[in-house]
Amino acid sequence: MVNPADVEGVLRGVIDPELGSDIVELGMLRDITIDGGDVTVTIALTIAACPMRDQIESDVIRRVGAIPDVESVTVEVGAMTQQQRSELMSTARFKAREDAEPTMVSPLTRVIAVSSGKGGVGKSSLSVNLALAVADLGFRVGLLDADIWGFSVPRMLGALDANLEADEDRKIVPLETHGIQAISTGLIVDDEGTALMWRGLMLSKALEQFLRDVRWDSDLDYLFIDMPPGTGDVQMALSRLLPQAEMVVITTPQRAAQRVAARVADMARRSHMPVVGVIENMSGFTTEDGKHYPLFGTGGGEELATELAVPLIGQVPLDPFVVEGGDDGRPVVRAHPGSPAAEALASAAARLVELVPKAEDETCTARIAVLAQQLEEMATGTG
Ligand SMILES: Nc1ncnc2c1ncn2[C@@H]1O[C@H](COP(=O)(O)OP(=O)(O)OP(=O)(O)O)[C@@H](O)[C@H]1O
Ligand SMILES: [Mg+2]
Repeated sequence: MVNPADVEGVLRGVIDPELGSDIVELGMLRDITIDGGDVTVTIALTIAACPMRDQIESDVIRRVGAIPDVESVTVEVGAMTQQQRSELMSTARFKAREDAEPTMVSPLTRVIAVSSGKGGVGKSSLSVNLALAVADLGFRVGLLDADIWGFSVPRMLGALDANLEADEDRKIVPLETHGIQAISTGLIVDDEGTALMWRGLMLSKALEQFLRDVRWDSDLDYLFIDMPPGTGDVQMALSRLLPQAEMVVITTPQRAAQRVAARVADMARRSHMPVVGVIENMSGFTTEDGKHYPLFGTGGGEELATELAVPLIGQVPLDPFVVEGGDDGRPVVRAHPGSPAAEALASAAARLVELVPKAEDETCTARIAVLAQQLEEMATGTG
């Protein structure tokens, strides 16, 4: 059974990028009707010809479609009345004051949490290489290592000696490397004592610090989050702090993925985080003379994607350059761009960007705010 509360919950992740608030909070959600697995969501936009319409509609479809048992999603779009528009603007202004310091991550930044049901499947290797491959497509990219004490991003980026500093506002300035921004406990902690202190921190608190006290570039198009294995705490904290976060699930081709699938889907549902798709890693090994060995079996990625009703974004083969690049800090997509893994990663990155398009900041509400100001100025004779 599809629960209306679950639908409303995921709709709280559909953000009006400019107002930095979600469509439920802003009163844009008008109605949810559920008929078996068919869900119809009615939303009212500020104006019907809103340039954001496509983005909001596709966000609604993606998020609601990710709820288990939902078979189809229809979005009906209407326009607000003048009265409703002014109510929305005052809600937005109130929210803006209330959330004066939410996180340093722009509401326009698309957040992609790289997760898996189990450890060691390649989350970190894929996070690093996907982040670089997306940057190679011309986007501004950040990478947050949310594996607080099992961090591996510094080594993989060849930044073991980096030492981060705080700026005059006591915000940590992320590392600029390989054309991306990166943050990891491993970049901050350089002695055992401090490491121990971090170990005592609640995981969710550490994540909160990385989002609130790190000066992320306000122009970030994408922020990749390398999730720690297993724990649901970090997922919950992430969806609370960054409601725009979405999940990419990594699996191996092994068929035992079935049980893991249920766990990941459940985690995603409980944290209202939609799953964008699945990436299968360690998808067999092909020798130089073209012989293919499916070392870890076949079909796990496809099966998991079907189970979660999301696309299979890519299949990354086993490739010694991935291991070597991870150890030497020379990520495979940059060090060996022609290798089988690098090519698979580049095409997965392109597909991912297609599925989660960069947010456009040309919003209807921005126009309305300008219009309202102009009218106000005309009325008071100051314009
Ligand atoms: N496509 C690949 N080909 C060859 N080796 C790989 C591939 N992907 C990952 N590996 C190797 O597998 C090991 C585990 O990868 P990684 O650390 O990225 O996984 P993880 O899911 O982040 O692990 P953890 O759950 O511990 O955080 C590493 O040694 C890595 O180099
Ligand atoms: Mg890892």
